[in-house]
Amino acid sequence: MTPSADLDAYIAGLPKAELHLHIEGSLEPELMFELARRNGVAIPYDSVEAVRAAYDFSNLQDFLDIYYAGAAVLLTRQDFEDLAFAYFQRAAADNVRHAEIFFDPQTHTDRGVPFGLVVEGLIAGMDRAKAELGVSSGLILSFLRHLTEEEAFATLDAAKPYLHHFIGVGLDSSEVGHPPSKFQRVFAAARDLGLKLCAHAGEEGPPAYVHEALDLLHIDRMDHGNRSMEDEALIERLAREQMTLTVCPLSNLKLCVVDDLKNHPVPQMLRRGLHVTLNSDDPSYFGGYVNDNYSRLAEAVGLTHEQVTQLARNSFEGAFLPEADKAARIAEVDAYARSAGVLG
Ligand code: ADE
Ligand code: ZN
Repeated sequence: MTPSADLDAYIAGLPKAELHLHIEGSLEPELMFELARRNGVAIPYDSVEAVRAAYDFSNLQDFLDIYYAGAAVLLTRQDFEDLAFAYFQRAAADNVRHAEIFFDPQTHTDRGVPFGLVVEGLIAGMDRAKAELGVSSGLILSFLRHLTEEEAFATLDAAKPYLHHFIGVGLDSSEVGHPPSKFQRVFAAARDLGLKLCAHAGEEGPPAYVHEALDLLHIDRMDHGNRSMEDEALIERLAREQMTLTVCPLSNLKLCVVDDLKNHPVPQMLRRGLHVTLNSDDPSYFGGYVNDNYSRLAEAVGLTHEQVTQLARNSFEGAFLPEADKAARIAEVDAYARSAGVLG
């Protein structure tokens, strides 16, 4: 076996958690066509190949325009269940044992799809994943930051009857021009409801947005965080506070956050003691699920078996799970590493 084939096989068998996954971003073109047909919705593509060919992005906004348009085929409770279960089948095949998934309620409620229908469909898919695939999961309600604070508050209100279904809230969509400060009061209200807090920060936005996410939103976990590496004081703080970063290498490549995977900041993040995890973000649009993110990054920057083991450990450590569950799952990672001769 070549060294990279050996590492790929090791990655494939490694138990992991996925902490940064937009369920709408897991809509594969095949399912998009099936749902379009089922629901009588017109889509501006002739074939699955034409959809894939359209996935060529220069920046985040290019992607978001296509991603929001794609979500138009999702209408019924069954659609959301099918979407979620299809993701979990892919995740299970990658040995993902636990996933904390984002959904964007405003993308659906703004089209007249009821909030409760979306949640009930996704929860049905998550319950099936637990029962049939053994994959546990949690649901994170993500606010669209290009919309107003008032609309975010209305979304939080709509969520109240379903609160027991959520582990946390997030903040996504167009970053530049929509700083975390815009959502300071919404995040405080979400925390008062007992929810965990995450926010996309430093994907395209400057280090100042990462500072705001920490100081004003008081996040428990940071999504992306790449541009933190431009700010020495921030790097030291993130290391000191052991803030989990949910980094998404193939997303960064497709959205031109990095020009080449060889220049991805993960090795530097690890060297500086940051609590990095690897995730797929919107795998249908970015060309790979979790194992592809591990393998392609490992190949490009030369990660070792020990480093990928650490990344998998971090994924459980950074999950919104009880401490005892985290310890049990990290023990499974370590047992796997020992059986492969990676840990002594
Ligand atoms: N929504 C889905 N994927 C996203 C990303 N990578 N950044 C911001 N918003 C998103
Ligand atoms: Zn994301």
